[in-house]
Amino acid sequence: MNIRQLLDDRITAALHTLGAPATVTAIVKPSARPEFGDYQANGVMAAAKQLKTNPRELATRLLETLDLSDLADKLEVAGPGFINIHLKNEWLSGALRGGRMQYPPTDQTIVVDYSGPNLAKEMHVGHLRSTIIGDAVVRVLEFQGHKVIRQNHVGDWGTQFGMLIAHMVSLADKNGGVSGVEPQLADLETFYREAKQRFDAEPDFANAARDYVVKLQSGDAECLQLWQQFIDTSLHHCEAVYARLGVSLTRADVMPESAYNADLANVVSDLQAKGLLVEDQGAQCAFLDEFKNKDGSITPIIVQKTGGGYLYATSDLAAVRYRSGTLKADRALYFTDARQALHFQQVFLLARKAGFASDTISLEHMPFGNMLGEDGKPFKTRTGGTVKLVDLLAEAEERAFALVTDKNPELDETERHDIARTVGIGAVKYADLSKNRNSDYIFNWESMLSFEGNTAPYLQYAYARIKSIFRKAEETPPGLPLSGEEAKISLHEVAERTLAMKLLQFTEATDSVAKEGLPNHLCTYLYELAGNFMSFYEACPILKDGVTEEVRNSRLQLANLTAQTLQTGLGLLGIGVMERM
Ligand code: ARG
Repeated sequence: MNIRQLLDDRITAALHTLGAPATVTAIVKPSARPEFGDYQANGVMAAAKQLKTNPRELATRLLETLDLSDLADKLEVAGPGFINIHLKNEWLSGALRGGRMQYPPTDQTIVVDYSGPNLAKEMHVGHLRSTIIGDAVVRVLEFQGHKVIRQNHVGDWGTQFGMLIAHMVSLADKNGGVSGVEPQLADLETFYREAKQRFDAEPDFANAARDYVVKLQSGDAECLQLWQQFIDTSLHHCEAVYARLGVSLTRADVMPESAYNADLANVVSDLQAKGLLVEDQGAQCAFLDEFKNKDGSITPIIVQKTGGGYLYATSDLAAVRYRSGTLKADRALYFTDARQALHFQQVFLLARKAGFASDTISLEHMPFGNMLGEDGKPFKTRTGGTVKLVDLLAEAEERAFALVTDKNPELDETERHDIARTVGIGAVKYADLSKNRNSDYIFNWESMLSFEGNTAPYLQYAYARIKSIFRKAEETPPGLPLSGEEAKISLHEVAERTLAMKLLQFTEATDSVAKEGLPNHLCTYLYELAGNFMSFYEACPILKDGVTEEVRNSRLQLANLTAQTLQTGLGLLGIGVMERM
């Protein structure tokens, strides 16, 4: 249930009854200040303009027709024609007990393209953002009931693989066959570097590498076998990172660039048949007016190089066609860094013009900024190398272990390690998810691992703290009377009501994550929820002497709902909680 949506729907309908045109909506938002009620509708002014009447008058007439008496106990006109809505306490407590996290039924099919590492190298921090943000959005969409199809569009094709195969072949010659190469592939980073060095320094090697590209692309069996071995090893590396990160991608979600190979020639000929391509210096290009630069030149979309090779854009065009035509997606979301913005604008528009994308599919690039070091420059190791993800995650766990040990030296070591894993990985993920993805963000160990502020440890701690209240409640007579008909929630104190309201806004947060692909909306929500809980806990004693059983029961329920919401919300972000920490 989404209260904002519910109010919006009902007030919009009332506005239409008064003759407002279909484009006018109620524009309901949570109120900025308590004296303005819980929600405010701001659409009356625009409606009045359309109807050429006085907004306050229209607002007054609206209140005469609008019946919200089932959920609101006061509606008032404010300022130039705002409507303040005060919700009923009984309605709030009823809503808390049922359907709070339910969504309207949906039958959308949503493709989410994320992670997509280049398999020639080991996964590095550059892939972290796409993987973490994409996975959070996927979880939210699935929670809402959508059919989500993950697409891990890994880079497994292209000229680099010729170089890698050439290196494999020469190592196999030295090490008694292909199986002898396996140990060297354990460190893909070094393997790639060696191959690249040889490619740059040895002309014979470079020529061999180029031959292998041609052989690979023409389907040479021996070449394909070596390539497959390399890809398998590289995917194993990725899977180890996914497992450690708690990312839901599996082998079945891998839909590599190479999978579109057989379709690339068709893509080009279909574009040709539609008259969308011209030959430019031997290359096949689409010049679309929409991509005209200031000087009048047009940035072309190259779909086939001189010499016949295909490009990144070509496989993405094939991928759009597959996602629209075969997977029948209603939406396709692409999580890549912002530098690819033009690429996707071009691919999406050309795909539409070519009829590769249905008229109804919504193609959405969800860009993100860079992960920066504390110096504000791209995140690197102290010596200036790329940071490997495995190393980064190991450091997160180590740092968290030190913190946990400091806080809880009495816990046994295994438990401290378990907590450290959940806290450390959670901190890395949350630090990324809590920022608006559109900007760059600065990676900082101290702030992400802090137990104060908008961090994973703070939220995990808030959860554990509520759990400890329940352990104590169990020991304090009369125990835990939480279920059943008598489990009423009463909202007398301001802090109780504020917390209840926040608990009911969970779906507003997840709806906006789903719509905009911005998990930071859920993070902000959870952070505010934890803050509301802390204020509630300070103002409203639960287990103290003198608290009546009824009040205690009601407050325990609010605490319980808070814990559930924190757990579910963090779970949607791919972050775990623990009973104690
Ligand atoms: N492999 C690409 C990269 O590393 C990301 C793939 C994104 N998905 C896509 N359909 N192009 O930048």
